[in-house]
Amino acid sequence: MIELAVPLGERTYPVFVGAGARHELASVVPPAAARAVVVTQASVGVDVDPGCEHLTCVIDDGEQAKSLATVEDLCRSWARWGLTRSDVVVAVGGGLVTDVAGFAAAVYHRGVSVVYVSTTLLGQIDAAIGGKTGVNLPEGKNLVGAFWQPSAVLCDTEVLATLPPRELRSGLGELAKYHFLGGGDLDALPLDERVAACVQLKADVVAADEREGGRRALLNYGHTLAHALETAGRYDLRHGEAVAVGLVFAAELAHTLGRIDSDRVEEHRRVVATYDLPATLPPGADADELIVLMGRDKKATDGLTFVLDGPHGPEVVAPVDESAVRSALEAVRP
Ligand code: GLY
Repeated sequence: MIELAVPLGERTYPVFVGAGARHELASVVPPAAARAVVVTQASVGVDVDPGCEHLTCVIDDGEQAKSLATVEDLCRSWARWGLTRSDVVVAVGGGLVTDVAGFAAAVYHRGVSVVYVSTTLLGQIDAAIGGKTGVNLPEGKNLVGAFWQPSAVLCDTEVLATLPPRELRSGLGELAKYHFLGGGDLDALPLDERVAACVQLKADVVAADEREGGRRALLNYGHTLAHALETAGRYDLRHGEAVAVGLVFAAELAHTLGRIDSDRVEEHRRVVATYDLPATLPPGADADELIVLMGRDKKATDGLTFVLDGPHGPEVVAPVDESAVRSALEAVRP
C-alpha cells in the first residue's frame, strides 16, 4: 500500500493507493465519529465497512443525479437518521458520488467530515483529491459547490479491474495530462505507482494553490477544448477521451504560437496513442461553435484562454488569437 498526503496544514489528509485500499476505511474514519452514512450508487457495487454503525444511501446513476435535489434528499435522510456534526460521511464511487456527497457533507450542519473511497481511475487521480465538491444547475455543470477537503481518501486499485473498458479509458485521458504536468514517463510505471504519482502531482498543486488563484488552473491542461466538446453535447466522447483530443489540440496551438517545437507535439500524440485514446476531433465538428464555447470557459477573463505548454512547461496564456485557434483545430481534424 502506498501512503501519500495532501499537505494542507492542520487539514492535511492521507491518501492510500493500492489493491484493497478500501479495507483501510475503519482505520481512517475520524476517531470522534460514532456513526457513518455511506453514500454510493447501485452500479458501484463496492462494499465497505466503516467499523461503526452506519446507514447506506444510494443515489441514482447519471449526470441528472448531480443536482441540488439529490443533496437535499441526502441531507434530509441524514437528519432523519440523526447524523451529528461529529459523525462522518463515506462516499464510495467515482467523481459523481464524491462530488455530490462531498458537497452535502460540506453543507450538512455547516460541515461534517467526509472520507472518499474512490472506485474509478478518473476519480482516484482527479476528483477525489483536492476538495472541489459540487453539483450542476440546469444552467451549467458544477455551478454550485464548495471547497471541502476530505479527511482521508482511499484509492483502491483492485476495483479498477471491474470498470467497463470505456470508463477505464476515460481515466487514462486524465492520466495522459499528468505526463505534461511534471509526470514524465508515467506509462513505464505499474498501475499503483502510476496512480500514486498522479495523486502526488495533484496534491502538490493543491497544496500550493488550494482555491485556484493561479497554479491549480494548470490541472485544466487539455480541458478547454474538452469542455467545449462536452458542452456541445452531440459528440460520443467520454470526459477523458475529450481531454485526450484537447491535449493534442493544445500542443498544436502551442506549436502554432511558437511556444514548443514539433517533437514536443509528437510527444503529445505518442502519449495519447499509448493509451489508445482519440487524437482528432469528431467528424463534422463545428469550429465556430467550439470557439464560442471555448470563449465561455471559466478561465477566460481576457479573451480566448488556454493552458499551453512552453519552454518552462504549461502555463495559462491569454488572450490567444482566434486565427491560431482555428489553425490548431484544423490540425486535429480527422
Ligand atoms: N479537476 C481540477 C481540479 O481539481 O482543480
